[in-house]
Amino acid sequence: MRITINQIKEMKRKGEKITMLTAYDYTTAKLVDEVGVPLILVGDSLGMVVLGYESTIPVSIDEMLHHTKAVVRGAKRAMVVGDMPFMTYHVSTEDALRNAARFIQEGGAQAVKLEGGVTVAEKVKRVVECGIPVMGHIGLTPQSIYQLGGHRVQGKSQEAAARMVEDALALEKAGAFAIVLETVPAQLATLITQRISIPAIGIGAGAGCDGQVQVVNDILGSFTDFVPKHAKQYAKLTETIRDAVTEYHNEVKDR
Ligand code: KIV
Repeated sequence: MRITINQIKEMKRKGEKITMLTAYDYTTAKLVDEVGVPLILVGDSLGMVVLGYESTIPVSIDEMLHHTKAVVRGAKRAMVVGDMPFMTYHVSTEDALRNAARFIQEGGAQAVKLEGGVTVAEKVKRVVECGIPVMGHIGLTPQSIYQLGGHRVQGKSQEAAARMVEDALALEKAGAFAIVLETVPAQLATLITQRISIPAIGIGAGAGCDGQVQVVNDILGSFTDFVPKHAKQYAKLTETIRDAVTEYHNEVKDR
């Protein structure tokens, strides 16, 4: 049986920490799923770590769906969350509904994630009302990177912190089943985690959140163009792959 949003919410109530990891392909999703990670995010970080773009902005919904389908084929138990890319939910509620439905119907995901708080709350409400579980994402929201002026810690001033609490409460009220808090001071992330009844899943937001999410390539050390401070490398796959390919290349040349 696949993990449900009720089980994820129950984990917060029981004080059980929640692990979420990204995956973009069948093989990785299968491994992550077999380990027992309950939430797999097909993040639009796909743009950088798989497709070689400079940011998440160019990622299209068709690219996201292509990878979501592969992840769903690999993950039998984990809940698969599809990340709605830039401008697929901003223009209108109709757009948000239509594109969220594509993730569920075509992609096979069980939930979608979208960035923003108060400004997207109405759209979140409608998507949830139509039966599609939504995960929120506040703090450093990479789709707004130009507006934010770079990968900066968010919520540092009192006003910004207060706005972020409002964003979290608005998402909870709109029916989101969980919220990602990205690059937020640990104290603020802990406060938000305590103020909301749904799970807060942090990335670069300290240990006080209900769970943690990481980009799988970051923890495996297989993407080194940009290594975020908050990502611990549990392996150095770049070196392993380079050594293996070199050995193969040399053996072929040596006949
Ligand atoms: O796209 C992504 O991988 C994300 C996570 C970093 C939360 O949004």
